[in-house]
Amino acid sequence: MQRPGPLLHLAVIALLVVPAMLLWGHPQEPARAATSGRRQTITLDEWTTSPAAARGRIVYDEYCGGCHGTAGEGDGIAARWLNPLPRNFQKGTFKFRSTPSGQLPTRDDLDHTISCGLTGSAMPGFPLMPSQERRDVVEFVLHLVTYGLARNEVEYLMDEEGVSLDAIRSENLAEIQEEMWAKVATTTTIPVPTAPPSTPELIARGKEIFDAQCIHCHGATGRGDGSSSYALRDWKDAEIRPRDFTTGVFRAGSTPDDLYLRLRTGLTGTPMPAIPGSADDIWAQVHYIMSLRDPTAATPWVPSGCGGLDPEEVR
Ligand code: HEC
Ligand code: HEC
Repeated sequence: MQRPGPLLHLAVIALLVVPAMLLWGHPQEPARAATSGRRQTITLDEWTTSPAAARGRIVYDEYCGGCHGTAGEGDGIAARWLNPLPRNFQKGTFKFRSTPSGQLPTRDDLDHTISCGLTGSAMPGFPLMPSQERRDVVEFVLHLVTYGLARNEVEYLMDEEGVSLDAIRSENLAEIQEEMWAKVATTTTIPVPTAPPSTPELIARGKEIFDAQCIHCHGATGRGDGSSSYALRDWKDAEIRPRDFTTGVFRAGSTPDDLYLRLRTGLTGTPMPAIPGSADDIWAQVHYIMSLRDPTAATPWVPSGCGGLDPEEVR
């Protein structure tokens, strides 16, 4: 029998590969990035870069792009297998901050996330990365954030106000640039007062608040199995479960100070709200939550992430 010629081979490869590429995108360029790339808009390359962000981009391409995507849209090659999904930096939504809801995180917040990782998610910690490289990659993350927010603004001007891209480039871009970086510069941090020691009274007060405000999500015993816990969705419409407090493992640090901030700020982009009330009410809940840890839990308690330790000491 005659062997199939090279043309037949090519046709077979095309039949197999082309639909796969249409569905999932080329490995280097996942489908979502390709789609957004087609939109006529400002490009990442024309968004002014600081020398630190330019250095950070090299670090990012090496260690972060595989999950967070080349342009930071949370669509790296590994993203499709992950829940929670890697953050889409262009949306500017961050869960773990020391800043009020609606604000961007501080550079220190981002540095903490990168050093310590987010325990219980795929986000690894990079405590051994030289601090200069971490600081640089923080700048590139902020570069992606400000670019994404600016792109929204540009697309709004084009779609809603009928301004051409060329006109925006020559007349509005500098101002938009200033406006977006002002969001980075004007963040305010929530002060964390000194934690009072845990007492039975404080824990009882915490339980009272918890039973009234939290159990429909976190469950009566704090296992994350409240009546509405199975129906919760995050901002990408992915399934999300409330934290199980009996494990004692928290995503961005397990010290009372870490938990104080998580309650005060809420986890933006998830159903976990910012909790109102006095500092004492928040401490009461923090101590109650910490008292729920099951000492016989399979997971031994470790200060998750860096747990409030100085990242330099974790090396
Ligand atoms: C193996 C995949 C993976 C890699 C590699 C990775 N990340 Fe992540 N990252 C994630 C996931 C998943 C999340 C979301 C976790 C969550 O929602 O709780 C995340 C979240 C984040 C956040 C958001 C924190 C917040 O407050 O919302 C930042 C910032 C971040 N990553 C930075 C980086 C940087 C910088 C690098 C490279 C140095 C990196 N990541 C490498 C998977 C990864
Ligand atoms: C509408 C549902 C909902 C309510 C109400 C709610 N939570 Fe949550 N909570 C969540 C979800 C979902 C998560 C997990 C978010 C994630 O994985 O990103 C969470 C996470 C947490 C965390 C973990 C933070 C970390 O670093 O891992 C703490 C602590 C917490 N909630 C405390 C509370 C307390 C205290 C209350 C009540 C005052 C409360 N929650 C009310 C849904 C809720």
